Amino acid sequence: MEVILAKTAGFCFGVRRAVDTVYEQIAQAAGPIYTYGPIVHNEMVVRELEEKGVRVLNTEEELAALEEGTVIIRAHGVGRHIYELLEKKGIRLVDATCPFVRKIHRIVQREEGNGRRILIIGNARHPEVEGIRGWCRKPSYVIESMEEAENFAAPMEEKICIVSQTTFNYNKFEDLVEIISKKGYDILVLNTICSATEERQTEAGQIASEVDAMIVIGGSHSSNTQKLFEICKKECENTYYIQSLDDLDLKTSESIRCVGITAGASTPNKIIEEVQKHVRIKF
Ligand code: F3S
Repeated sequence: MEVILAKTAGFCFGVRRAVDTVYEQIAQAAGPIYTYGPIVHNEMVVRELEEKGVRVLNTEEELAALEEGTVIIRAHGVGRHIYELLEKKGIRLVDATCPFVRKIHRIVQREEGNGRRILIIGNARHPEVEGIRGWCRKPSYVIESMEEAENFAAPMEEKICIVSQTTFNYNKFEDLVEIISKKGYDILVLNTICSATEERQTEAGQIASEVDAMIVIGGSHSSNTQKLFEICKKECENTYYIQSLDDLDLKTSESIRCVGITAGASTPNKIIEEVQKHVRIKF
């Protein structure tokens, strides 16, 4: 069986870096290790880390109650007050914020310094957006939908800097910016979308269009994996959505000669490799 594995399958650069950071700390750090929020949305990875003693802190209250140890900040990043809180408490902080997210933190600080009010295009409840807002001194705006863009109203004399959540859809970002641009404000638009998601989707679609069967690996609740599945299904009717090798029930026939494999952003390499090996050997 010929297998085509997507180069962009699984962890993006920032998530890979964050997970590696946790493993480095397990090897180095003295005392308890915590991550502020799950390091990646994959139960298997989090469980494996838990077995190695890494605990997940889910709320700021839990963070504030700490007396010792190391806290790892995940790829999404956090607001300035979390750094300040840990510093005040004398808790060691290891920053695994994705450099692309860190860049947005620097942009909003700089542009506020230049007298601009920050408008973030993204989901206000997403931790990354909460973190970006946490680097603004003044209240920032957040817009996610066409309707919110239409209704957006700031004082006319206000100068605005628009940035985006890294995983926001590019076309939708453009549409929302266009609506706001027409309102006549002095705006500076900085597209801070990360290309990792789009590249993964484009490659998945391309592979799916060339193979006889396509396997998409990822958590059942992972929205980016669902999106990958939709894209692949459109190109290849014979597309399978699995969480791990146990779910794979590939019905092979003479007509299947080539299988494609991709995986969502929170799928660890180990699972991808297992599936790949299995398909190569068994069929
Ligand atoms: Fe990943 Fe960083 Fe982009 S976490 S999606 S590489 S912004």
